Amino acid sequence: MTGHDCSLDCPRIANRKPYYRELRAGRTYPWCACGRSTRQPFCDGRSHIGTGFEPVQYVAKADGEEVLFCDCKHTQTPPFCDGTHSNLPGGYEDDDTAAAGPQPPIVAAGTDGFARLDGCCFVVSPPDSGDRYQLSTLVAPSLGAQHQSQFHLRLTSGASPVLSARGVDAILWVRSGNGEIEIGERRFALSAPCGVYVRAGEAFRVHAATALTAYVSACPAVEALDEQADMPPHFDQAWPERVVPIDEAGRTAMGPRWFQMLVDKRIGSTTAAQFIGHIPTSRAEMHRHLYEEALVILSGEGIIWNEGSAARVRAGDVIFFPRKHLHALECTAPEGMDVVGLIHPGDNPGINY
Ligand code: FES
Repeated sequence: MTGHDCSLDCPRIANRKPYYRELRAGRTYPWCACGRSTRQPFCDGRSHIGTGFEPVQYVAKADGEEVLFCDCKHTQTPPFCDGTHSNLPGGYEDDDTAAAGPQPPIVAAGTDGFARLDGCCFVVSPPDSGDRYQLSTLVAPSLGAQHQSQFHLRLTSGASPVLSARGVDAILWVRSGNGEIEIGERRFALSAPCGVYVRAGEAFRVHAATALTAYVSACPAVEALDEQADMPPHFDQAWPERVVPIDEAGRTAMGPRWFQMLVDKRIGSTTAAQFIGHIPTSRAEMHRHLYEEALVILSGEGIIWNEGSAARVRAGDVIFFPRKHLHALECTAPEGMDVVGLIHPGDNPGINY
């Protein structure tokens, strides 16, 4: 953003979005910290002189390493974007003009329940067979996912089978109902809404006191959850906290939106993260993420826009976004829209480009 009035003790905002770059192993990238370089996002060797800022030298770890260099210069994790740009003046903008231009066609769901958009992006509504127990596949490698899977669990009474995510982490979002979850030899009370973390190598079983629904993510992606005859006792005692409730005090602003982290590295999930967020009535700018994302619509309704197609979404639906997929979510409900997202690989849903 040009025209930002910065004194010399403050970094100048060079751009209100981060800069995507693929790096070469061993090469040093001198990131401009002052925001005054003429070679953004890199140092030009002279513009920082007298500002008190020095460039940050980053040595690439691998060929093809994908990074987002901060270009607003206000990140707390230099040289990389941490999402701070969304809360700077003009940093997060809704796309008020998009509706005036040509609109891509709205795609309806097929008989399989999937509305397929550009690339491997899609919207799916979980089916309801009316059975006591139902486990449905919503996101999987066979549907185009590379980094995560998602399954929808309905349980009206009794217990589910013992389930395991084939040796990878499982992260649940309990959307409705209450009961208990066994994880190995441990048992936790469940009361919707909440997130639950099951570590790689553990198995779990859900018990419904009232009809219970949950979205079960697996990271990295697996094609299915396995049923086991018996509950293996293994429970990783190093991470004893497994159920994460909603906590309004933990909200992070993102322009007019907010999110709160649920299952993340604080309780042991180091490569995947779950969050709950709120979107007011608005249409976001088109943007991308470096992570793969599955977004559950909890309330409200709207439209997910891609470049060449779009689909309506409503409470209960799941939107799957491949990495680097160009998209914008519009909330059309006057009361706004609540969502729960699962990102992998990644730990910060506030980073977009
Ligand atoms: S561009 Fe600076 S924090 Fe994102």
